[in-house]
Amino acid sequence: MQKDLRPAVIAGNWKMNLTPAAAAALIAEVRPLVADAACTVVFCVPFVDLAAALEAAAGSNIKIGAQNCHWATDGAYTGEVAAGMLREIGVEYVIVGHSERRTLFGDTNETVAQRTRAALDAGLTVILCVGEYLEQRKQNITLETVRIQTKIALAGVSAGELKRIVIAYEPVWAIGTGLTATVAQANEVNSGIRALLAELYGKAAADGVTIQYGGSMNAANAEELLAQPDVDGGLIGGASLKAADFARIVAAAQ
Ligand code: 13P
Repeated sequence: MQKDLRPAVIAGNWKMNLTPAAAAALIAEVRPLVADAACTVVFCVPFVDLAAALEAAAGSNIKIGAQNCHWATDGAYTGEVAAGMLREIGVEYVIVGHSERRTLFGDTNETVAQRTRAALDAGLTVILCVGEYLEQRKQNITLETVRIQTKIALAGVSAGELKRIVIAYEPVWAIGTGLTATVAQANEVNSGIRALLAELYGKAAADGVTIQYGGSMNAANAEELLAQPDVDGGLIGGASLKAADFARIVAAAQ
């Protein structure tokens, strides 16, 4: 089966939630629940929670990620964090290009590409987010939109580096709204992204890339979404803040 060619990755994106103490407590709660997971388990946490999260996850199968990184290695960028800084403290993953960064904080396809490049150079694995607005879906340009986002972000990425890229398809209209893409919609876009990867890198490389779905994925709908042939995992917002719900999603990925 094609899905055996790539690791399933369930990642929680906590967004701007939980203090360091609450982060440690949630990871302590989740840890035993996901100890036997057949998939990769990641929590992408606020910058100030990283140290506490790394300590709470030490010795477990839970990996820790950040939610953004800057493209420069250092310099006069007040308020930003460099990828190398994340790597040095033991962070393994970083989300790049989340729609909230694009919509609220001015990220463009070009800066997403720069952040992706910097993250790879620092040795991180990138969770690259792409997805259309509702208006774009209505205009029937969903696939074109995610193809452009993906192609620009990966412009400087080699076939070898593709092993450290996870793509998260997150339709913007499904994020935090309780509206989920249908399984057919999720699989159609994920499979379109894989077709683009095959054009750019060849079929074998494309088949090895984990492509997640994100947008109101929860304990009740995860199994059906994750059963789709091109849905290889999930990027979970709200439901990743509840230990039992997140653990059920992880279990659904096996
Ligand atoms: P929700 O799961 O809360 O819809 O958020 C999805 C998301 O944006 C994950 O990055």
